[in-house]
Amino acid sequence: MGGTNLRVCEITLPEEKSEFDIIQSKYRMPEELKTGKSEELWEYIADCVQQFFEFHHEEETGVVPLGFTFSYPATQNYINHGILQTWTKGFDIEGVEGHDVVPMLEDAIAKRGLPIKVSALINDTTGTLIASAYTDISTKIGCIFGTGCNAAYMENVGSIPKLAHLKLDPDTSMAINCEWGAFDNEHLVLPRTAYDVKIDRDSPRPGQQAFEKMVAGLYLGEIFRLVLVDLHDNNEVNIFEGQNIERLRKPYSLDASFLSSIEEDPYENLSETQDLLLKYLDINTNRSELELIRRLTELIGTRAARLSACGIAAICKKKNIKSCHVGADGSVFNKYPHFKERNAAALREILDWPSDTRKDPIEVVASEDGSGVGAAVIAALTNQRIRDGNLAGVKPPAA
Ligand code: BGC
Repeated sequence: MGGTNLRVCEITLPEEKSEFDIIQSKYRMPEELKTGKSEELWEYIADCVQQFFEFHHEEETGVVPLGFTFSYPATQNYINHGILQTWTKGFDIEGVEGHDVVPMLEDAIAKRGLPIKVSALINDTTGTLIASAYTDISTKIGCIFGTGCNAAYMENVGSIPKLAHLKLDPDTSMAINCEWGAFDNEHLVLPRTAYDVKIDRDSPRPGQQAFEKMVAGLYLGEIFRLVLVDLHDNNEVNIFEGQNIERLRKPYSLDASFLSSIEEDPYENLSETQDLLLKYLDINTNRSELELIRRLTELIGTRAARLSACGIAAICKKKNIKSCHVGADGSVFNKYPHFKERNAAALREILDWPSDTRKDPIEVVASEDGSGVGAAVIAALTNQRIRDGNLAGVKPPAA
């Protein structure tokens, strides 16, 4: 479950290492669900699972273990458990924050009589990390650059102060979901523009996800829109003079794909951009307005890519990683023009690799659909452990 789509995947892990077979269906998360009622959310997800299951899953093989990729910050005391800390990415559904989401999904699935049990809940970044490492052992970090943005890496338990009381073996590895979207919620470090401030103020959760609100796909179109409205209303600049910009005034009416199309406009005279503005916003543009618009998308896209590189570099510095692959997924990474190059260029600058370095030692590589595969790997490992009688970290069924 992500911020824009829900995917249901059936994944088969054969005997051969690094291999998997996947069948999947993608469903859109309906806009009204994001601020609707909790039951409606779980019913919708269970409906999608049911549809998929009835269509694809012919053989009856007993209880099917489900890995639930839940792309929101959750507190996890067990692998099959996750208390939602706070909604992000514009979601605002009452009655879920502070609760374990696993029974909510399981109840909706059970109501439909489906033989499915949630074996594991994981964050999408952890899923991406595990899936990428499953196919490429040089992977050390998993990232999502999509509607939201975040990363995960493996840490030794001995370096996690909040787990000291558990007295675990300090060398045991544990996946850390960084939730770096919440970096600088105190607004002490990142230079924010008036547009960043407004996005935060008008969001369902002001003061949260400060970093995410500057880099993630959900916000790129809105930053762009706010700048244009400001330039229009501001008497000194006066773009789109004398035109009705009502369509542009609608919050969140432009998504990141609008910026992508502008950045991709191949024509010197930016004629595709001109058509886009006319078609979607009913705004006529002259040459200098078009140049300003293109430059604006470049600035917004470049800032997002460069700030994202700071996150990767921070993990590499903390863990003293000198070379690795970073598995990445998400619409911004996969579809936003130049994101990868801008991100790589920033990483080179921050980590200060010599200019004659032939191949970047730390490389961000695509891990498309990784989070689903990662969830399946974790669900399979958990089931294996249970079969072996090792119940550590597994929540026992309610009495
Ligand atoms: C969530 C993270 C998630 C990221 C990418 C953020 O809004 O807080 O848990 O990993 O989006 O989907």
